[in-house]
Amino acid sequence: MTRAGAANPIVCLNGEFLPLDQARVPVMDRGFLFGDGVYEVIPAYDRQPFRLAGHLRRLDRSLAGIRLANPHDDGKWAELVRAVIESAPWDDVGVLLQVTRGSGPREHAFPAQVMPTVFLMPLALQPPEQVAVARGVAAVTAQDNRWLRCDLKTISLLGNVLLRQLSVDAGCAETILLRDGWLTEGTASNVLIVRDGVLLTPPETPLLLPGITHEVVLELARAHGMAHATRPIHEDELRAADEIWITSSTKEVLAVTCLDGHPVGTGRPGPIFQRMLRVYREYKRAVMRAGRA
Ligand code: PDD
Repeated sequence: MTRAGAANPIVCLNGEFLPLDQARVPVMDRGFLFGDGVYEVIPAYDRQPFRLAGHLRRLDRSLAGIRLANPHDDGKWAELVRAVIESAPWDDVGVLLQVTRGSGPREHAFPAQVMPTVFLMPLALQPPEQVAVARGVAAVTAQDNRWLRCDLKTISLLGNVLLRQLSVDAGCAETILLRDGWLTEGTASNVLIVRDGVLLTPPETPLLLPGITHEVVLELARAHGMAHATRPIHEDELRAADEIWITSSTKEVLAVTCLDGHPVGTGRPGPIFQRMLRVYREYKRAVMRAGRA
């Protein structure tokens, strides 16, 4: 397949590869009408997908959570993802993958016959800016008012959209969410804190997304003997943290150095973050070398 220009990349809609400006979804698609679907964003570096198996496992889990049969096995998904990466105009790509419950009459209940809509497209994957990595980013907090199944990666993102806009309005990089005084996650990231040298993060519950980058960070903490624990984190602990980190497939690992206008710890990315950043980058390089081998 030929590679397309950045303005009009090749996308895959229901198995057909075509330029983005020719891809059409019917207005009766339940993704459009109800936000009835799920998605993934799968990073690829130097055209090598990163942690593809984990993303496909989470996709399968999200589909089961909304009672939509997985239209493909992992082998077929991997083939589609690799084809989108290969035809992308960039070497570093985030593959956006969406599955909706397809088209039907506008009725809330599922249609009798479901023909899911399957869409994949490449997004340019910019590494976090040097200055954001070196100095950290600012975040605000907000009450987490999303639904109670945030463990499913659904395309119904209005809650996340409105909450994320609060940080944009405040000139910040992310909104960190608290539900009844307990840390859940960011609007598009997971959150970890460091207190007294220990890396802490909330447990997996239906109230937050099990992030793939977060999983990598915890694996690396374990592998490198960094003290860590998974347990509920109260707002007071978040505000008193020595370090706060956010993780996501697009941001990788970033330090939050300012929360609601107050410095976090020294106001600079902390020593444990610096160590994690080093091992994360080493791990990423090793995965890419193995992918090319
Ligand atoms: N978002 N929590 C939420 C609510 C997210 O939307 C994301 C990722 C994460 C981090 O998950 P991962 O490490 O698997 O990317 C946590 C993607 C990047 C997005 O919506 O663009």
